[in-house]
Amino acid sequence: MKRHLLSAADLTRDDAELVLATADEMRSLADRPIKKLPALRGRTVVNLFFEDSTRTRISFEAAAKRLSADVINFAAKGSSLSKGESLKDTALTLEAMGADAVVVRHGSSGAPHRLAHSGWVRSSVVNAGDGTHEHPTQALLDAFTMWKHLGGSRPGGLEGRKIAIVGDVLHSRVARSNALLLRTLGAEVTLVAPPTLLPVGIEGWPVETSYDLDSVLPKADAVMMLRVQRERMHGGFFPTAREYSRRYGLDGKRMATLQDHTIVMHPGPMVRGMEITADVADSDRSVIVEQVTNGVAVRMAVLYLLLSGNEPAGSMVEGEE
Ligand code: NCD
Repeated sequence: MKRHLLSAADLTRDDAELVLATADEMRSLADRPIKKLPALRGRTVVNLFFEDSTRTRISFEAAAKRLSADVINFAAKGSSLSKGESLKDTALTLEAMGADAVVVRHGSSGAPHRLAHSGWVRSSVVNAGDGTHEHPTQALLDAFTMWKHLGGSRPGGLEGRKIAIVGDVLHSRVARSNALLLRTLGAEVTLVAPPTLLPVGIEGWPVETSYDLDSVLPKADAVMMLRVQRERMHGGFFPTAREYSRRYGLDGKRMATLQDHTIVMHPGPMVRGMEITADVADSDRSVIVEQVTNGVAVRMAVLYLLLSGNEPAGSMVEGEE
């Protein structure tokens, strides 16, 4: 693995398979009464969140704590950032405190890259979502969830699997990171969206595209619904919410056209009734809550591999009864 995880494209196939296998070992820890390993004892992980987050921030915090790291949570609100302090000065402060890893979420695409390559910090930088650009650990937890359900938990298990990613691709860092990672793992991705919600340059992505959800659903092994990111929209991308749901929402009727084994996913936060109906979100096919559980295991794997080198964690997990 490289020193930083900024993009899903930073991961080779071997790296990605190693994260999945390591996360699988970490996952077994979640079922134990004591969910802690000593692997990162004495190391410091800083969660630097400039943008709102529920799942991702809590997930990184739980992951670091389960590896016995010291965790510092730093949210932009209530810090000197609201007094105008720059990313650089914040970074220098973190460096002075001896951070080993900095997990950063920022509204601007490229902010984690800047942090990693400016020379301001010596720590590993993990991108926890930057603007509309990338969210590599979300892609890893999504891939892990698919790999458990569709890939038999074995290397190469996602080869040839058909994944539909549906909705506001234009504003989605989740879609971009997933497209890159799933390609690396050999899956076939189809992005489904209205033309206005597909980014310029989509021809260069390793994916198929479609405007017709109903033709894609029966072939998919996994369907990932994306939230319509109204906070990033300045202008009308579709006529009405109702019209959007009618063409691109996943409801019970559409769900009935899926194959028996097909799973339904969503990175959260969901807007029930918009991109997904409540009956679908709460159905047996939905793995949305499991994605959250898997997120902790995957982030443990990432922090562990970045900070402790690439040796397998297996013996250590076994040894920690
Ligand atoms: C996503 C994000 O923040 O990019 N959520 C997440 O990390 N679980 C998707 C979204 O906000 O819709």
